[in-house]
Amino acid sequence: MSKESVIRRVTAPQIAARKGGEPIVSLTSYHAHTAAIVEKYADFILVGDSLGMVMHGMENTLGVSIELMIVHGKAVVRGTKRALIVVDMPFGSYEESPEVAFRNAARIMKETQCGAVKLEGGVSMAETIRFLTERGIPVMGHTGLTPQSTHVMGGFKTQGRDEEQWPDLIADAKAVEEAGAFAVVLEGLVEPLARKITGEISIPTIGIGASAACDGQILVLEDMLGLGDWAPKFVKVYGKLGPMIEEAVKTYAEEVKDRSFPGEDQVYR
Ligand code: KIV
Repeated sequence: MSKESVIRRVTAPQIAARKGGEPIVSLTSYHAHTAAIVEKYADFILVGDSLGMVMHGMENTLGVSIELMIVHGKAVVRGTKRALIVVDMPFGSYEESPEVAFRNAARIMKETQCGAVKLEGGVSMAETIRFLTERGIPVMGHTGLTPQSTHVMGGFKTQGRDEEQWPDLIADAKAVEEAGAFAVVLEGLVEPLARKITGEISIPTIGIGASAACDGQILVLEDMLGLGDWAPKFVKVYGKLGPMIEEAVKTYAEEVKDRSFPGEDQVYR
């Protein structure tokens, strides 16, 4: 391979260096094909555990296994050349201890060849984030609305509506920063709080339902493409993939039934 043909992937430190600069573009992706399209425009791609819901029909993300994350992580790494690929650590794979988290994060990185992992939690996960980053694993944090804690939080609720919640939410983002994370996802935060956190920490904040005040944005690809019949309220739906797929399948079914498919030119001779 010639030196010129090597395409270097975006790295975690390069994302960290974008703090306060050009907004960081990111999306989730769970297959090789969509990832190849997404990386033309995104700085990093998240293989998020939301795949349990949008790909596998689960009610929440709690049932997602490491094996499932690895299968999709491998597909996304195979389908891309340039974007940083971040793989979520699923529920139960990191909370027990820093050592367990390291073992599972190292497995995810070895098997998928991704460039970083993401895990949920602030102050309570700071020790684990430090343990991983000191051992060569770039970590993206995730605070605010943390879907893996849905049962503790009482559902998917916007955080920070009550200003009394702010000190804890700010402390979470700061703890993640101080522990060595290269960026932090802020999910479901009211705008003034997202703006305050973004102004007070030195790593990029990546918003999802947390306003344009963040250093970058992320959306779940299937939601923004309009693939399902439901998307969270804050999601701007850019496509109509669900109806497009239905129309294509309906036309195909009609053609099969009236024997106009396959046509002459679709038959091997
Ligand atoms: O799993 C996921 O899709 C995520 C995003 C909501 C950031 O963690």
